[in-house]
Amino acid sequence: MRLTIIGSGAMGSQIAMVSALSGHDVVLYDLDPDAPARAVTSLRHRLDRQVDKGRRSREDVDAAFARLGVVSDLESAVADADLVIEAVVERVSVKRDLFARIGRVCPQHTVLASNSSSIVPSKLADASGRPDRFCNIHFFNPALVMKGVEVVRGQETSDATMTTAVEYVEGLGKQPIVLEKEIFGFVANRVLNAVRDEAISLHEGGYASVEAIDAACRTALGYPMGPFELMDLTGIDIGYHSKTERYAETGDPADRPSRSVTELVEAGHLGRKTGRGWYTYETAGD
Ligand code: 3HC
Repeated sequence: MRLTIIGSGAMGSQIAMVSALSGHDVVLYDLDPDAPARAVTSLRHRLDRQVDKGRRSREDVDAAFARLGVVSDLESAVADADLVIEAVVERVSVKRDLFARIGRVCPQHTVLASNSSSIVPSKLADASGRPDRFCNIHFFNPALVMKGVEVVRGQETSDATMTTAVEYVEGLGKQPIVLEKEIFGFVANRVLNAVRDEAISLHEGGYASVEAIDAACRTALGYPMGPFELMDLTGIDIGYHSKTERYAETGDPADRPSRSVTELVEAGHLGRKTGRGWYTYETAGD
C-alpha cells in the first residue's frame, strides 16, 4: 500500500517507520520543510540501535529507509496515496483545513485517517468531502513499540474503510482495538486521562510529589511508567490542547486544563522533546 503521513513529530515519524518496516511505500510530509529530515535522522539512530542489539537485520532496516520518502509539497505528497494518516497538532480547525486540502487532490479511492488522540472522526470527516472514506487510526507513543492501535468508526465511515484500516493495522503486526461508535478520547485515553487527572489533582493538593505518585504507579500498580513520566513522553502540550478544545466546547470545569499543566505549557516545558516537563532531561528529543 502507498501511505502518506502528514506531520513528522514523534508520532508521525514513528508511524511512517513502522509502516515502511512492514513493506509499505511511505511518504512523509510536514509543514516545516526541515522537520522530516530531522525526524529521519532520529529514526536512523533508533533503528541503528535495534540493529546493534540484534533486534532487526541491517538489510531490513536499509530496505525500510529506501521505502520512506520525504515530499515537501502537500499536493504531491498525497497524489498517489492509498491511505493518508494525519498526525499534526490537536486542533480541530488545523486538521479540518488540512483534510479539506487533501480531499480535493488525492485519488478517489484514498482512505483518510486522523491519528488524533481524542477528536472523533465526525468532527473532521465532512471537511474532507469523503466522510465514508474517513476514520481514526490512533497509535500510542512510542508507536514503534506499542502494540495496540485504536480504529474508530465515524458516523459515516463505510465498512470497506474500516476493513482497510483494520487490515493495515494487522499488517503492521499490531492489535486493532475497534470502536464501532465514536466517543471523545476513545477507549485507552479515557482510562488513561482519568488516572492522569487524579495524579495531577493529588500533586496540586500537596498530598505527594510527582516522583512519589509515579513511584506508586510503577511499584504498587505495576504500570511501566508513572502518569507524569508518561506525560513527559507523549508531550504535555498534547493533553493540554485536547483539554482546551474540549473545554471550549463543553464549558465543563472538569475539562479545563489544570493549573500546573497550563503553567508548564506556557513556560514551554513540554516534556522530553523540550528537555524539561515534570522532570528535567539532559538532552531534548524523543
Ligand atoms: N521511541 C521509540 N522506541 C522507544 C522509545 C521511544 N521514545 N523509548 C523506548 N523505546 C524502545 C526501546 O528502543 C526498546 O526497544 P527494543 O526492545 O527493541 O530494544 C524498547 O522500547 C524498550 O525500551 P527500554 O528498555 O529503554 O525501556 P522500557 O522497558 O522502560 O520501555 C516504554 C519503554 C516502552 C516506553 C515503556 O516504559 C512503556 O510501555 N511505557 C508506557 C507507554 C505508554 O503508556 N504509551 C501510551 C501513551 S498514551 C498515547 O500515546 C496516546 C497519545 O494519543 C497521546
